[in-house]
Amino acid sequence: NKGKYEHYMQKEIHEQPESLTTTMRGRLKRGGSTKAKTVLLGGLKDHIKSIRRSRRIVFIGCGTSYNAALAARPIIEELSGVPVTMEIASDLVDRQGPIYREDTAVFVSQSGETADTLLALEYALENGALCVGITNTVGSAIARNTHCGIHINAGCEIGVASTKAYTSQIVVMAMLALAIGDDAISSQARREAIIDGLFDLPSMLHLAFSFNRSLDYKDLFYCTVVHLGKSNMFLPCIFADKVREVLKLDQEMKELAKLLIAEQSLLVFGRGYNFATALEGALKVKEVSLMHSEGMLAGEMKHGPLALVDENLPIIVIATRDACFSKQQSVIQQLHARKGRLIVVCSKGDAAAVCPGGSSSCRVIEVPQVEDCLQPVVNIIPLQLLAYHLTVLRGYNVDQPRNLAKSVTTQ
Ligand code: M6R
Repeated sequence: NKGKYEHYMQKEIHEQPESLTTTMRGRLKRGGSTKAKTVLLGGLKDHIKSIRRSRRIVFIGCGTSYNAALAARPIIEELSGVPVTMEIASDLVDRQGPIYREDTAVFVSQSGETADTLLALEYALENGALCVGITNTVGSAIARNTHCGIHINAGCEIGVASTKAYTSQIVVMAMLALAIGDDAISSQARREAIIDGLFDLPSMLHLAFSFNRSLDYKDLFYCTVVHLGKSNMFLPCIFADKVREVLKLDQEMKELAKLLIAEQSLLVFGRGYNFATALEGALKVKEVSLMHSEGMLAGEMKHGPLALVDENLPIIVIATRDACFSKQQSVIQQLHARKGRLIVVCSKGDAAAVCPGGSSSCRVIEVPQVEDCLQPVVNIIPLQLLAYHLTVLRGYNVDQPRNLAKSVTTQ
């Protein structure tokens, strides 16, 4: 049922405040006196120590699920201290790449039925790795055949283009990072900041009960009172809701789509946490709007892609505030110097800081700033909206793109 929406992809993009809420529900907890804020992942509780002790964590997936793992990789490395490597499932199997007993292999799949990912799982099991599943589908082959796992609880995703599952996968993997790093005193402040950041992403209607965060005046402005089921308790709930805020860019992205409708190609540059945003944004555009699009690591720009830059080719640069911001500013300057046609995704209030020659030199999409490791959840949404509107305007089937299936169950 599409409800008030015309397409499933549109519905699934717009229901992300709710899908993210269900992903987090019951998993963020107030701990004892020494740990004020913590994460509980029931499906992993007997295995978390083994994961912490692994020699390596290997993320394995395809398409959007691979991109979600790539977005989460830096925070897992930071909080766990365990080296993380990335594997596209088919490539791991083709190479028969090394997987060891001391490895934790994490299989990320919305459907839990992707043939390539299942073959990689079989291979990792044969090699004795601890196998963890991250899926949206209870009872799926990956959920059944891994040693333990986490369901992302994003709700049924019908559009072939994965949207809400992507953001829920990132949030689940951020929670995985918090759970693995839970015993390190040195990163406690960082972990608490991330938990606060998770709290600020979606509507907190369902979270308020399981987590007691102190409110500031800004939060109080958004406060509402919810009746919490049988307990007859009324608690304030925070409505900070960064995801709902970024969804308000819908019309702006439709206008941008009108400008890009006849283009042949689109490049997307990102780095750090948002290299994944570049790959995933480009994947969305190409798979539904059938426009050629490439996501690129901005650090690689001078090693080839710069040759493509001219006044015609549209280029999206992700330049929200994080440790890579100044490097992205310099990428923008270099693209600008070559008359690049720039569209910059930046943090709210940063338009002047990212547009070298003022607003005439580039188009700016301002998004709310959140904790750096959660920023990919916010940043992908304008690109999902752009892909959706481009497709509708170009007259293609947005929910069932040419030649694609929702679940790829053959090799
Ligand atoms: O069900 P899975 O997450 O394993 O599917 C993996 C890919 O086939 C899938 O993400 C595909 O790339 C999507 N259509 C992208 O939107």
